[in-house]
Amino acid sequence: MTQAPQETGVTEPPGEEELSRAGLRLTVEGAVARITISRPERRNAMTGRTWTTLAHIGQTLPEDVRIVVIAGEGDIFSAGIDLGMFTPEGVEGERSIIGGLTDGSADEADLDAYIAELQQGFLWLRRPDLVTIAAVRGYAIGAGFQLALSCDLRVLADDAVFCMKEPALGLVPDLTGTKPLVDIVGVHRATEICLTARKVGAEESRELGLATLVVGVDELEGAVDDAVAALLTVDHGAATATKDLLLQAEGNTLEEQCAAERAAQVKRLTTLAKAMAAQA
Ligand code: ACO
Repeated sequence: MTQAPQETGVTEPPGEEELSRAGLRLTVEGAVARITISRPERRNAMTGRTWTTLAHIGQTLPEDVRIVVIAGEGDIFSAGIDLGMFTPEGVEGERSIIGGLTDGSADEADLDAYIAELQQGFLWLRRPDLVTIAAVRGYAIGAGFQLALSCDLRVLADDAVFCMKEPALGLVPDLTGTKPLVDIVGVHRATEICLTARKVGAEESRELGLATLVVGVDELEGAVDDAVAALLTVDHGAATATKDLLLQAEGNTLEEQCAAERAAQVKRLTTLAKAMAAQA
């Protein structure tokens, strides 16, 4: 079964203060939520708080939201993790990722639990009841690339540049990005992209299937709006059931997938029949 909305008991969406401390902006209009990574003075670099707040946004989206668009403020998507997170002193008001290991106040299990918490900020973007779109201008480095990879669609401006920088910093990509990267480009190309930490431009991203669409910088907003409008023409129940099926496909045998298709269709037909009967 694929990722479903989490039952966390959290019902209140993040307020302006939480959003601002996380370097995020959020607007929700009807079926569309727009999240902007907004720390332009740090090239939209993200902190632990960015991802715990992203998770909070996911937990508290109104039920009628169907589309989530994530973009960066200005001419860059994100410079990835705030590098201050790797210094012993960390980023002000944030837990340092390695500080606890250097001073002995945290052990490996603590760190594992902390990273799991941060990954929640990325995982919910796969939810079948949502279609998530990364609108990418300029650099999407490291965690920024992984955030874009967590989305269903990546609409790129022609100045977009992906880079999986983590191995060049002695790290691994750990914010849920390795699976979608391999799913999209295959293990061999993913190995080359990660282990060289090289830049992958918009045209190459289109060729590799990393970009759903590449447009001129000035056309990015309009292209995303067009994609949103097209996605909203499909019935929400059908969209959710179809994304759920598609997400299962790779891990299923043909037989299992056929069974999943039948089960989903029976539910759809039952829903449609009830709606027809109610109208009659
Ligand atoms: N963390 C913290 N601060 C950052 C980051 C970052 N990831 N990226 C940029 N900044 C800061 C710079 O230190 C600089 O601050 P200053 O004005 O106080 O000196 C400011 O943002 C502007 O940065 P520049 O490098 O001058 O911007 P430029 O447009 O020339 O380059 C680029 C942008 C390419 C994104 C460059 O800043 C860069 O390479 N950043 C680091 C990327 C990185 O290694 N990210 C971590 C990847 S690993 C992961 O995400 C898990």
